[in-house]
Amino acid sequence: MKNKTYLSAPGAAPSSAAGSPPEYGAGHPLRRVRAPLLPRIFTADSVQETLGLDFPHPSKPRVLLAASGSVAAIKFESLCRSFSEWAEVRAVATKASLHFIDRTSLPSNIILYTDDDEWSTWKKIGDEVLHIELRKWADIMVIAPLSANTLAKIAGGLCDNLLTCIVRAWDYSKPLFVAPAMNTFMWNNPFTSRHLETINLLGISLVPPITKRLACGDYGNGAMAEPSVIDSTVRLACKRQPLNTNSSLVIPAGRNLPSS
Ligand SMILES: Cc1cc2nc3c(=O)[nH]c(=O)nc-3n(C[C@H](O)[C@H](O)[C@H](O)COP(=O)(O)O)c2cc1C
Repeated sequence: MKNKTYLSAPGAAPSSAAGSPPEYGAGHPLRRVRAPLLPRIFTADSVQETLGLDFPHPSKPRVLLAASGSVAAIKFESLCRSFSEWAEVRAVATKASLHFIDRTSLPSNIILYTDDDEWSTWKKIGDEVLHIELRKWADIMVIAPLSANTLAKIAGGLCDNLLTCIVRAWDYSKPLFVAPAMNTFMWNNPFTSRHLETINLLGISLVPPITKRLACGDYGNGAMAEPSVIDSTVRLACKRQPLNTNSSLVIPAGRNLPSS
């Protein structure tokens, strides 16, 4: 995986021994900073600290794991744990998803970003913009669960929260996976297949939902794929194709479309 510099690097070039990673001084935006142990609230200064750690590129892929407001977000903790076994993980959650996520249960080394962080980290012109920095940071993005609402917004190009701003700015030479989760009535609604076709054309990969008894008691298709399946699908894709190349899709989103 080639090294990438994600931030403009004001100041003097770092000193480094041949073959070893460069060392940046305190306060330098490219200085590596150890991730905090607990989820934290960000200030304009701390966003640079936590995001300014992207040189040199780590050996583990950087996965941006995002949750939207499906009841399947109760499995987000499990997803975070399995991905963090093989990847460097940062998390993003929509406002609605926070009804289903127990933030205190997430692994302590994973930073969870929300819409509030977008604005608490930006104070003035010249400050870094969180959704752009996360888009640059990530090698892969995985949205699990993907709600009907966020699916529709992505298909329509809307960007009114942190998650959809990242997707709207996404570089489609990097993989983006979605694992939809919704009630069968929503899944079978004609909008779903239209939106899936649109995101397929964008280059987004689908981890299809499954048929089972849903949280609401109904039986049918629309439940999020098991976390282990999402994890192994993305992991396999990473093994099959080197990251940050113009990658072909692993599972085209047009597959397994809902009946309409
Ligand atoms: C209890 C409850 C469960 C819900 N479950 C789902 C779901 O499984 N899938 C879905 O697409 N929407 C579900 N919704 C609706 C979404 O939360 C709603 O559309 C919300 O606006 C999604 O916001 P987001 O896409 O920004 O996360 C549920 C709503 C409630 C109140």
